[in-house]
Amino acid sequence: MAETLILTGFMGSGKTAVGKRLSEKLGWDFFDADPLVEQHLGMPIHEIFEIHGEPGFRKAEEAVVLGLLEETSRAETGTVVSLGGGAVTIPAVYERLIREPLVVLLDEDINTAFRRARGGKRPLADDIDKFQALYSERESLYRRLSKYIVDTRSLNVEQVADRIISLIHERTGIL
Ligand code: S3P
Repeated sequence: MAETLILTGFMGSGKTAVGKRLSEKLGWDFFDADPLVEQHLGMPIHEIFEIHGEPGFRKAEEAVVLGLLEETSRAETGTVVSLGGGAVTIPAVYERLIREPLVVLLDEDINTAFRRARGGKRPLADDIDKFQALYSERESLYRRLSKYIVDTRSLNVEQVADRIISLIHERTGIL
């Protein structure tokens, strides 16, 4: 059975870019949860929110993320999974993540995160005050279930990927 390294963190924290780079460095598979949810319902995220509302999006996200983690737990090669920023708010996903050993939080400055996340594709990133409030609501969830926290301020994608590898290596000897 191979390892699954799971990246979590708020919108705009760099989960997708870091996840891709990490998987290249490790020679592991990479899955980004958001596009899988889009495939699952056959439409982009902003449309899912318009048509099914946030509850409809979370329902699909729950099915996709739990299915994916079940698959990667049985895979023969390692996998990096980048979650959507709100996956941690789904109780069944949270319960699953609590039991996973390689959950890494990307901790980014909120203004930088908003600058990256805004611009139409993310329904929950259209207003800085709401964005900030949502982050405050979620912060303790991220911190509670993450086994590693990387402060990404002033680090580039390559440096964040290297930092994750060395943190996990120091603590566990793997990677
Ligand atoms: C969301 C984060 C997004 C996406 C959706 C909702 C959230 O993913 O799943 O727009 O609730 O934080 P990213 O964190 O990859 O932007």
